[in-house]
Amino acid sequence: MPQEPVEAPSNEAAIKRNPHADFGAVERSRPLFDHDTQLTFTKTPNPNWQAGGGASNEEWKKHQFVTIDPYEEGREPWLNYKLLTSATVPRPIALASTVSPDGKTANLAPFSFWQCAAVDPPMYSISFTSRTANDTLTNLLATKEMCISMTTESVVEAANFASVNSPRHISEWPLSGLTQKPSDLVKPAHVAESPYSVECKLHSVQDFHSKADPSVRTSTMVIVEVIRFHIWNDAIGPDRATADVTKLHPVFRAGGIMYGSCPTMFELPRPEAFGQLREDEKIKDLI
Ligand SMILES: Cc1cc2nc3c(=O)[nH]c(=O)nc-3n(C[C@H](O)[C@H](O)[C@H](O)COP(=O)(O)O)c2cc1C
Repeated sequence: MPQEPVEAPSNEAAIKRNPHADFGAVERSRPLFDHDTQLTFTKTPNPNWQAGGGASNEEWKKHQFVTIDPYEEGREPWLNYKLLTSATVPRPIALASTVSPDGKTANLAPFSFWQCAAVDPPMYSISFTSRTANDTLTNLLATKEMCISMTTESVVEAANFASVNSPRHISEWPLSGLTQKPSDLVKPAHVAESPYSVECKLHSVQDFHSKADPSVRTSTMVIVEVIRFHIWNDAIGPDRATADVTKLHPVFRAGGIMYGSCPTMFELPRPEAFGQLREDEKIKDLI
C-alpha cells in the first residue's frame, strides 16, 4: 500500500530536543519513578521573611547576566523557542481533544503553552507554535469545540506519544491507548483516565507573524471558554471549587524532553489588605 507522506516537524534537527547521545543508556541508569512518593508539605523557603525582606539568600549576587536581543544577527527563532520553553517552567500540559470537521477523526495532542486566561467567563489560552496549522488548531477553527484534560503521572507517556505527527485522518487516541469519555456539550471526548477535564467552546483567535517576514503566520493563540468542568469527586472539596493537588498528580513540562512532577509543596498566605497593613510600624517605615 502506498505510504502517505508524513510532514517532518520543522527545525526538529536543529532544536536537538534530546540532549543525550544515547537516551536509552541514560534512562537505564536512572532509578525507577517512585509511585509511592506523597506530596510533602514543607515550610516556605524562608519562614522568617517579613515585609521589605527581599530575597531569602545572597545567591543572586554570585551571578553575571547574559543579555540577549531576540532578533540579534544570525539568531534563528527556534533559539528563542528553546529559551522560552526551558526558562518558562513548570508548564502544565493540556491533552487537547478535537474532532475533524467531517466528524470522522478524533484527534488528541499535548500542548504545554496552556494557561488560565480569564475567570468570568472561565477561559484557557493555548498557543500553537508551528508554522503549519496542526490538526488540533485546524479542527478547533472549523468546529469551535475542544476538550482539555490534565496530564498526570499516569498518562504522561501516553500524552507524549500523542504528539506524534500522524497524518490528519489517523487518530492518536488508539496510539496513546487512552480512553475516550463522551462529553456532555461538545463532540470531542475527553480523557477518561485524567482526573480533571474541561469541555470548551472557541472564544477568540490571535495570530502572530514572523518579524523577519510578516507575511508568515508563525504562531496562533486561541482562547477557549470552559462550558463544563469534570473532576474526580475525591479531588474536589465540598465547596465544588477547590481541587486537591495531592490527588491530581499533575505533570509539568520543562525544556527539551524534560518533564517533572511536584513532590514538594508549601503554603504562603497572601498579604493582608493594604489598608490594614499600613497601620503596621514596619510598613510605615518601608513606604
Ligand atoms: C508535552 C508536549 C507539549 C507540547 N506543547 C505544544 C504547544 O504548546 N504548542 C504547540 O504548537 N505544540 C506543542 N507540542 C507539539 C504538538 O503536540 C505536536 O505538534 C502534535 O503533533 C500536534 O498534533 P496535532 O497535529 O494532532 O494537533 C507539544 C508536544 C509535547 C510532547
